[in-house]
Amino acid sequence: MKFFIDTANLAQIKEANELGILDGVTTNPSLMAKEGIKGQDAVINHYKTICEMVNGDISAEVISTTFNEIVEEGKKLAAIHKNIVVKVPMIKDGIKAIKWFTDNGIKTNCTLVFSAGQAILAAKAGAAYISPFIGRIDDSGWDGMDLIIQLAHIFDMQGYTSEILAASIRSPLHIIKCAEAGADVVTSPLESILGLLKHPLTDIGLAKFLEDAKKFA
Ligand code: E4P
Repeated sequence: MKFFIDTANLAQIKEANELGILDGVTTNPSLMAKEGIKGQDAVINHYKTICEMVNGDISAEVISTTFNEIVEEGKKLAAIHKNIVVKVPMIKDGIKAIKWFTDNGIKTNCTLVFSAGQAILAAKAGAAYISPFIGRIDDSGWDGMDLIIQLAHIFDMQGYTSEILAASIRSPLHIIKCAEAGADVVTSPLESILGLLKHPLTDIGLAKFLEDAKKFA
């Protein structure tokens, strides 16, 4: 399972990248706004910086919602760097645009996916990545992980080549469950990635080893 970080924060991207386990980055308009990035030039420069920092796929989301506009915006985003993946919302024009990008050699990430039907359409259109939002499904009283399990089964049965990119991760347990369910990629905030490191027995064990090491140091 590949690890992406879900942020536009450069310090957090750097910290995750320095762990040596980072395969890519996802952003969205809310995450970009959180970093105070304003204006098209600033957005483009920010994506450029991320692409220079991380050697992997970097999802850059369009903010257009009609076919022609999504295609025009996506072409500009794709021109920033070879590793840019155009992130397109799961709407009717979005599916048409994903097909257009697929036919024209531009990789896409279909975002805001909440059902198996939506994921099947995105796979048929040729999306490189499909992003089910498991945390937001949990928030609405359903089990987001059920969708990952269902998609892993469908994609396997049907031989779809799109990668299941589990998004809207809220905890280290989400990451573990995604690995168990067969997600191809998980995109997570730094906190949940670092949460995987933690175990009290590791801390207790290390303290004891270091204490005992003083006896022969
Ligand atoms: C996916 O690519 C989105 O950026 C993200 O995972 C959304 O997560 P949230 O529900 O925590 O906003």
